[in-house]
Order: sequence, then C-alpha cells, then structure tokens
Amino acid sequence: MNVLITGYEAAPFYKRGGLGDVMESLPKALGKIGIEARVVIPYYDDIKEKYNFKEEGEFTIRFESVVESIGVYSSLLPRTKIPFYFLDNKKHKFISDKRGKDKINQFASFNLAVVNFIHWVSEHHKWIPSIVHCNDWHTALIPLILKQKMKLEIPTLLTIHNLNYQGIGSLKVLDLLDMRDEETKEIKRGKPATEINVLGEGIVHADLVSTVSRSYAKEIMRDYGKNPIAAFLKKREEEQPKIDGKIIGILNGIDYDVWNPATDKSIFHKYDTNNWETGKKDNKDDLLKSLGLEDRPTFCFVGRMAKQKGLDILIKTVDGLDSLNINMIILGVGDPIIQETVLKLAQKYPSWVRAEPIYSEEFAHKLYAGSDFIIIPSRYEPCGLIQMIAMRYGTIPIASKTGGLQDSIANGKNGLLFEKGKSIRLKKAIKHALNIQKDMARYRKMVLSAMRKDFSWDKSAVLYKKLYEEMVK
Ligand code: GLC
Repeated sequence: MNVLITGYEAAPFYKRGGLGDVMESLPKALGKIGIEARVVIPYYDDIKEKYNFKEEGEFTIRFESVVESIGVYSSLLPRTKIPFYFLDNKKHKFISDKRGKDKINQFASFNLAVVNFIHWVSEHHKWIPSIVHCNDWHTALIPLILKQKMKLEIPTLLTIHNLNYQGIGSLKVLDLLDMRDEETKEIKRGKPATEINVLGEGIVHADLVSTVSRSYAKEIMRDYGKNPIAAFLKKREEEQPKIDGKIIGILNGIDYDVWNPATDKSIFHKYDTNNWETGKKDNKDDLLKSLGLEDRPTFCFVGRMAKQKGLDILIKTVDGLDSLNINMIILGVGDPIIQETVLKLAQKYPSWVRAEPIYSEEFAHKLYAGSDFIIIPSRYEPCGLIQMIAMRYGTIPIASKTGGLQDSIANGKNGLLFEKGKSIRLKKAIKHALNIQKDMARYRKMVLSAMRKDFSWDKSAVLYKKLYEEMVK
C-alpha cells in the first residue's frame, strides 16, 4: 500500500514543533511494516538555503485565475529509501511564517499543488497513492479539492494535531481555487456567510478523521461549546468507525534512533537501564557545572513558550519554591512576553533558576539526560513527545493530567500527574517528587519503569496501517 503524507513541516528538513517529528518518524515506522510512504511539504526558503536540492521536475496549477509554476524538489530521508518532496511555488514563494489572510491563501495554493503533484508523481515515478494522509489545517483543504475539484477517488485521512489552530479566513479563497460555493457549504459562517474554517472543511470532507491520543479525542468532543467546528466533529463521530465510540486517537511514538541515551552523541555520558544511576549522575554533574549550579534535585522545562504549554503556571509555582533547595532550568523560545517573564524569574533567583530562551536540540538532549524531573504544565496537550523522551532518559515527568500526557504517564508508577492549570497542585506534585527521590528504592523503581516503557513508533504504525486498510476496503 502507498501512502502520501503531507503537512506543514517535516524533520529533519524543517521542524518547528512535534508535527515535524511525526512527519519524519511515521513514514519510517510504516516502511518497516510494508507500507510505502512518501512525504510532501512546501519548499520554504529555510530548506532551500540549507539543502539546495536539485529540481526534479515542474508542473502548473491554476490559482487566482493565473497559471502558476510549481517546481518539484526531492531528497531521500537520511538513512532510508523514503522520498521526501518539496514543492516550490515559483511566483508566490511558500513562506513558513506567513501571517493572516495570505497564510490561508498560501496553504490553499499548496493544497492544490499537492493534488496536482499526485498526477506528477504517478506519471514520473509510476507511484500512485492509495491514501492521502493530511495533517492539521495547513493541508485540510486537500480532501475537498481532491474530491470536488479534481474528482480523484483516493481516500483521505485527516489527523488533528492541534484543534486550536483552524485556519479561519475569507471564503474568497474558494474563488481563488475556482471552486463554487455550494460545493463547500458546510463551514460557511456569518450572515451573509463570508468566512471559511479550513480545518472544519477538512473534518467534513476527509474520509476519516483522527487525532493523536485517545484522551484528546475525548476532550475535543467534550469542550465543544467553545469550538466552532464541534458540531462537525460530533457528526463525524457518529458516522465513522471509531475506537471506544470516539473519534480515533492514535498516540504518537518517538524515534528510538534519535532518542536513545545509550547512543546519543549530544549528551556528556551515554547510559542505559543497567548503568543509569552513574550515567545520569555524570550527565547531571556536567550539566550543572556548565550552568554554574550546585548539586541539588534538578527540575527542567523544555518546550515552546506558548500559552498552551502553561509556563505561567510554572512561573507562579517557582516563585514560591525558594526554600526547597532545588534547581530549575527552563529552555525554549516563543512568545516574547513569556520569555521576558522567564528571564526575570531567573534574575530574581540567580542561585537556582536558569532561563535559556534559545532553540537548541543539543541542549535539550543534555537536559533530558542530566535532569531528575521534567515539568510539563500544559493547559492541553494533544499528544506531547517531551514526556516520552524524558522517560526514555530516566527523567521523571510531572505533567498536567490531560490529552496525551494522561495517556502516556501512569501516575505514581513512571511519573506524576496533577490537575491541569492549578499551580497549587503542581507545587504539591513537586514536593511529592522530592519525597519519592529520598526513598531510593521507590525512586529507582520509578525511573526504571519510565525508561522501560515502550514509546517506539512500531505500535502506533500498526494502528495507522489498520486504519489505512480499513479505508481502502
Ligand atoms: C502538536 C501538539 C502536540 C503533539 C504534536 C504532534 O504540536 O500540540 O501535543 O505532540 O502536535 O502530534
């Protein structure tokens, strides 16, 4: 079976968030169980500058009533035979951080290009996808374009990685695509209707809708008062095959080739489940030395500085922990205001708080290896990969009880869960963690149980395979 996977980003070529990791690891894991996946994303300047791929071909699309030329660039995913394609809109460049209305139009044209690319790839490589797997709103117009405009009978799966980003914009984008209004009447909003909700269109028109954990699948149905496309999700839930009677939720995995403390080149000392005690201690010593911190129980935060990630909850909690004799290291970039607050916190407590407002994969690896605990105070978390990575490195997660965090952490066994959004609960969990660490036997058991938990992609890939098979039946 052939699957074309598409989305906004794909590691290692271009990565801004967890979706980027999924787009790299899922095709690899599918390859191992006999599914031939190929990936297509936009050819942003950032990719072009770094890789400068050779152009493989060209085709045209008709967008905004003009003919636009789309260049096809390609590369194999390193150490695999999986082709990754990059589409370049020669006239209106695809830009990774485009904003507002232009952003909706840009991805509409990318979606049209992807559908045309299917013709190109089947002609040039004799490769025809049996399924198109779309991810998030950036590729959510594909099911509609594929069916209504191009009349192609290829089943589509839409995976929601974050329901909070929906791509709401002017209905005019349909004129640009040269599609008539009646064909998309589902998600029009306003009176007279002027708006389109791109993710909503995807939910209505995809053959199947899934998300990245079972708990998140339940949450997005439950909180649907606040959500403009809830009614459509509800409808999908009634129509489509489901797991536990809900929209399908398949937990992501992590790439064990990348995330392995026994082979990780970025960390100070390598270790596994046999020598983790000395391994982690050595990593911690070097980490703390590099930051000028004393040897104390060490907590970290790794992630985007965004409201979703609940840093304000962490900041509020940390402000009351001066007497606990711990270290707190915060790594991440994002919202300038949040970054500023984190830096102020570090200035206020120079002896035990460190803030690193940078994007550094390398430093993240060192933190996973050298910290005792990782705090993940997300307000919501569709899946979350950080808890899985930390656990693999024997770092105990202290996380909000929500979404994928709740589905991957067993409270008290391999991590701690606290009620989301509550700094008092987080404070209590931190104190609880310190008590557990004092009880060596219990702590050892917890670390080993975390390290041994299987978060490889293999399990999830099998579930995707089942879904795909269901769809082509
Ligand atoms: C989004 C979600 C995150 C998830 C990732 C990959 O970034 O916020 O929870 O892990 O997508 O599915």
